[in-house]
Parts: sequence; C-alpha cells; structure tokens
Amino acid sequence: MPMTVVSGRFSPAFLPIRFPVSRLLPVKYADQRRVVFVPRSARASSSASVSVETNSSVNSAIEKEKHREEQEILACPICYNSLAWISQPNGLIESALSGTQLQCNTCKKSYSSNETHLDLAVASGSKQYSEPMPLSTELFRTPLVSYLYERGWRQNFIWGGFPGPEKEFEMAKEYLKPVLGGNIIDASCGSGLFSRLFARSQLFSLVIALDYSENMLRQCYELLNQEENFPNKEKLVLVRADIARLPFLSGSVDAVHAGAALHCWPSPSSAVAEISRVLKPGGVFVATTFIYDGLFTFIPFLKNLRQEIMRYSGAHTFLSERELEDLCRAGGLVGFTRVRNGPFIMLSATKPSR
Ligand SMILES: C[S@@+](CC[C@H](N)C(=O)[O-])C[C@H]1O[C@@H](n2cnc3c(N)ncnc32)[C@H](O)[C@@H]1O
Repeated sequence: MPMTVVSGRFSPAFLPIRFPVSRLLPVKYADQRRVVFVPRSARASSSASVSVETNSSVNSAIEKEKHREEQEILACPICYNSLAWISQPNGLIESALSGTQLQCNTCKKSYSSNETHLDLAVASGSKQYSEPMPLSTELFRTPLVSYLYERGWRQNFIWGGFPGPEKEFEMAKEYLKPVLGGNIIDASCGSGLFSRLFARSQLFSLVIALDYSENMLRQCYELLNQEENFPNKEKLVLVRADIARLPFLSGSVDAVHAGAALHCWPSPSSAVAEISRVLKPGGVFVATTFIYDGLFTFIPFLKNLRQEIMRYSGAHTFLSERELEDLCRAGGLVGFTRVRNGPFIMLSATKPSR
C-alpha cells in the first residue's frame, strides 16, 4: 500500500495520496504541511509513490510550530491586535540577533529587534521623540544602575525583608501551581534574575522577560549568554515595553510575575489593569514589593508626606496591604492573598474564571 507521510501532526496513511491534507488543518498550519513525493528513480518499489520523512524532522517541525503559536501572544501596543512575524525567529537569541521584524495586522506599524530584545514600546522606532518617565522608572534605565543591579543592588533588598531570589522563586511557584505548563511574563524583569529561574525550571511553555529599560534588557541578555548551555533559550524572549501598555493579546497569558517592581511603576493602577487584561481567565498575578505602612497610613501629616514623596519620586513604596488588595480588586483581579516579612510583601490575585 502506498505510504503517505505528512510533515506535521497527522500522518494519515489511509488517505488517498493526492488528498489535500491541508484542507483538514486550521489555515495557519496549512503552509507547514506537505506531502513529500520522491522521484521515480529514487523509489524503492514501483508501488511506493511517497517518501517517509524521519520522525526527528517531523518532531522538529511540530516543535517549531509550537514555538510560533506560543509567540503569537504578541500584540501591537497601539491597537492590541495581533502582530505578524515578517521574519520568523526561534526564541530569544534568534529574535534579537536576526533583526526580527513584526508588523501589526491592523495598523501596519512595524516593530523590530535590536541586538538584544524586541522593542514593543509604543514609541519604538521614533527618531526625534523621547519621553522621560518618573524617576523610579528612569533610574533603572541608566547603564550604571543596570550594571550594578545584580552586582550588589538587588542583594541589599535583604534589609527590606526580601528573602532572596531563590527563596522568592520557590514562594512564587506555590502561587503559580495552577498555571504551570503555561506561558509567563516576567514583568519588569530587570537584569532577568527571575526570567532565568523560570526558564531554567522548564515549568513554563514560554517565558517573556519584559522591561522598559533598554540597559536592563542588555544586562539580561548578557547574563543569559554568559551561561554555557543555558537550557530552554528558545523558550525565552526579551521584550521592551511599558507595563501600562502591554504588547500581548487580551486573555492570552497564563501568569504574570513582577518581582520588586510594583513600587517603581508610574501608575500601579494602569499596570494592574493591563495585567488583568492580558491574563486568561484563571490566570495568576504574583508580585513582590516594599510597603512601609504602619505610621504612614495612620498619622495625617505622614500621609500627606507620603503623597508628596510619591508625586516627586514616582515610587509607590508607602501603600498598605489594604490598598494593595483594593488595587487588585479595582483592576479586576480576585482572591487577593499575601505573605509578609517586614516591608517585604508577596501578593497574588487571579483573573476570575468564566
Ligand atoms: C527594582 S527592579 C526589579 C527587577 C527584578 N524584577 C527583581 O525582582 O529584582 C524594577 C524594574 O522595574 C522596571 N520598570 C520601571 N518602570 C517600568 C515601566 N513603566 N514598565 C516596565 N518596567 C518598568 C525597571 O526598569 C526595573 O528593571
């Protein structure tokens, strides 16, 4: 019996040879499937009209297709519609190095990568215009702070009750249990200490390391490349974006992690609303931050001082637990829960299931 081998998920050997297999498949797969014919001279027997592709090539095609699907969560930060890859990358390294380009299917704006990350900020590509953000964002855009971040700066958080990245990762994993196997955004990843832990754990189908700071992303890229044989590199993508304008399709993300970042965001309410928009029903948000509540929330003079500090620094380090819970609720998230250790707080909330 003639054997039909299709490079893709199905190998319908029972189908007539010339049946257009692509008709059985969703449109986006159609271009990937092909029946491979072998020239008459090369056929082993006169009845064999189609060759067999090795399992490994079929598997790698499936893997590639899976990566492509996973990366299809990216959206235009202007109109939130899907982006088409103009040149198709294979994860982090290729997407950054090969000058990858994406184009919005709707508004037609193009986005591209530089040597380290995909730039999906709204103003990406602008030549003259630049927009200073509040100090709490700008500080981390400087080369010096980005360089020092994992070389001493982050280690100081221990004085604020932070248990340290490994322990924080273990704690976050508890909250992330319901969404293991899905995709995760490491929002405001800084130099990528958690992005690396998420990728190395192989617990997620895709890890997006996202930050607004070009220099932090540069550090992230370099630290990743310093490690020989880093596993799962192809499942890690570096993206530059503002937390208040996330370049992902609505309801496409399983988990958002934000380590030590909420207090740095210019508008935590816009950020949480965006996180809520991109999460799938049942998706999990887990974050750590500093809160210096207590006196600041009770004494009227200090409360006013707190407002002034927030206004000028842009830092939201004086929120109380109740305000954080309210922030999540206002942003459409439910089931707020938290762990405290002095000023350190790890909080989690989820997108309501349908
Ligand atoms: C203190 S670092 C946290 C880095 C890392 N997640 C950690 O746990 O150590 C805060 C990060 O928030 C980022 N950030 C500040 N404003 C942002 C914004 N508007 N959008 C995205 N990231 C922002 C900074 O660039 C910086 O990398």
